[in-house]
Amino acid sequence: MEKILIVYYSRTGTARQAAQALAAHTGWPLAEVSDLSSRAGLRGDARCVLDILLQRHVGYRYAGPAVDECQRLVIVAPIWVGHLAAPMRSFLRDSMPLCCKTSVICVMARQGAFKGAEEIARLATEPPSPVLALRQGDVASGAALQDLRAFAEQVDAANGRAVVAQRPAWLSPREA
Ligand SMILES: Cc1cc2nc3c(=O)[nH]c(=O)nc-3n(C[C@H](O)[C@H](O)[C@H](O)COP(=O)(O)O)c2cc1C
Repeated sequence: MEKILIVYYSRTGTARQAAQALAAHTGWPLAEVSDLSSRAGLRGDARCVLDILLQRHVGYRYAGPAVDECQRLVIVAPIWVGHLAAPMRSFLRDSMPLCCKTSVICVMARQGAFKGAEEIARLATEPPSPVLALRQGDVASGAALQDLRAFAEQVDAANGRAVVAQRPAWLSPREA
């Protein structure tokens, strides 16, 4: 059986909530990438935007098991300006070559999740699968739980632990 690790970055709690719900449902261990310095407030917003636009490598803290010991990394992160949040992108770049399989959950206000997944595809040896896009409002309301369970089933199916109906590798947010 694959050793699976959920690694998340969250600035304001949405990705954390999704990652924790997935961990509670599956029992997969959690690891956190966090900021070295606060991104709170307007100055924090501006730094997020600049980090993306200038493609800066940013400092971060990692708390969790060694990534090179897992066979599948489930990456949970927000979208910033149509890209993967800078701390997660920096963490993944520093973890290269990413030889394990990857699965991705991007949280967002409205759009951009698939661009984030494409960035991960460029960093990993094979494209991430499954990929799940979640809207912030659905995570907050609990409506995303159903999608998170379906995502876990897809990972289990890829891992030979369950037989589920074939579904697309990319799961879109539910319709409003
Ligand atoms: C600087 C910045 C840029 C953002 N850009 C986008 C975007 O391009 N598309 C989108 O749908 N949401 C965007 N968002 C919203 C976040 O993706 C959304 O609030 C997400 O749920 C935050 O996750 P977190 O609470 O785990 O930090 C942006 C947020 C910030 C702070």
